[in-house]
Amino acid sequence: MVQKVTPWEVRGNINYDKLIKEFGVDKIDDSLLERIKRHTGELHFMLRRRIFFAGRDLNWLLDEYEKGNKFFLYTGRSPSGKIHLGHVMPWIFTKWLQDKFKTELWFQFPDEEKFLFKQELSFEEVQNYLHDNMLDVIALGFDPKRTHFLIDTKHAGLMYKEACKVAKKINFSMVKSTFGFTNQTNIGSIFYTSMQAVPAFLPSVLKGKNIPCLIPHAIDQDPHFRLTRDILPKLGYYKPASIQCLFLPPLSGVNGKMSSSKGEEQAIYMTDTPEVVEMKIKKYAFSGGRATLREHREKGGNPDIDVSYQYLRMFFEPNDKKLEEIRQSYLSGELLTGELKSILIDKINRFLKKHQLERKRAEDKVDKFIFK
Ligand code: TRP
Repeated sequence: MVQKVTPWEVRGNINYDKLIKEFGVDKIDDSLLERIKRHTGELHFMLRRRIFFAGRDLNWLLDEYEKGNKFFLYTGRSPSGKIHLGHVMPWIFTKWLQDKFKTELWFQFPDEEKFLFKQELSFEEVQNYLHDNMLDVIALGFDPKRTHFLIDTKHAGLMYKEACKVAKKINFSMVKSTFGFTNQTNIGSIFYTSMQAVPAFLPSVLKGKNIPCLIPHAIDQDPHFRLTRDILPKLGYYKPASIQCLFLPPLSGVNGKMSSSKGEEQAIYMTDTPEVVEMKIKKYAFSGGRATLREHREKGGNPDIDVSYQYLRMFFEPNDKKLEEIRQSYLSGELLTGELKSILIDKINRFLKKHQLERKRAEDKVDKFIFK
């Protein structure tokens, strides 16, 4: 299947090196990691393992930072369903950045995006998901004093004028070639990218001075920010920098992106019970183990194609030494698929237990996070 990666669709076997070339992003190299480490003291495992593997203008961002020109963070979520592990992976890293660099975070909830792009979705449904999704973001522990939620329909009075300034500099042929739109695409969708551009410079508008922006996101959002970067200098603002991650795969196999559209059983949701998690991993997580016990003991498993192992690598086992032990033990045939899955199930359930508790507490905090 041919590879297709847009903000609305990820299809085929993803070749990340090809994406780097196509999108024109920079691979994160050792010298950049060293540079980040000088400020953070340690490197998050998602950096060490190149889960965050690419970016734009990161050296520029650090130049500015070292001159005392501090950046803010910007990321977002378009409410259209329940939150799953694939969504929170980059947010966990975003929180680490916020903690290490003590930055403001602008979190956008474009509650019109999926309404415009999905035929069957109503605004009422989106509003329910909006509330539900905000709880998951808050539950991750972002600093309420430094985190500001922007909700497109609620903050339209603030955002629309800025979006129009962006929209005026984008013509139809630019969005056609960036997103693959056609003459049949509805005009709301055509306008949408200008709304997603706004949080990248809104803090500069509000403060009346230019502030660098860093956007952590999964690589499929890059087309929006490619356009944003073309336009913002024309409006007198900095181009936003970005740091981009791989997709957390679906349970069915290590290629592709966890997504609700693949079916409820292909994703692990933040509200899943321990029993559901156990069932999903046991039943659906693609295994790199061998067909029979004997063969597995003889030849060993393949962690590279094993979804459970990859979830440990990308999300649930931050300790490099422990991860390597698991890898070696699986490769040698000592560790069986069932045992590997048990390790993962235990880790996921511990993580979700805490999350679900924080999620309940988040109900009272929503108002504190919404930008006033
Ligand atoms: N378009 C994103 C989504 O579909 C939401 C989003 C808005 C976003 N602003 C962003 C994602 C900034 C990453 C960074 O969920």
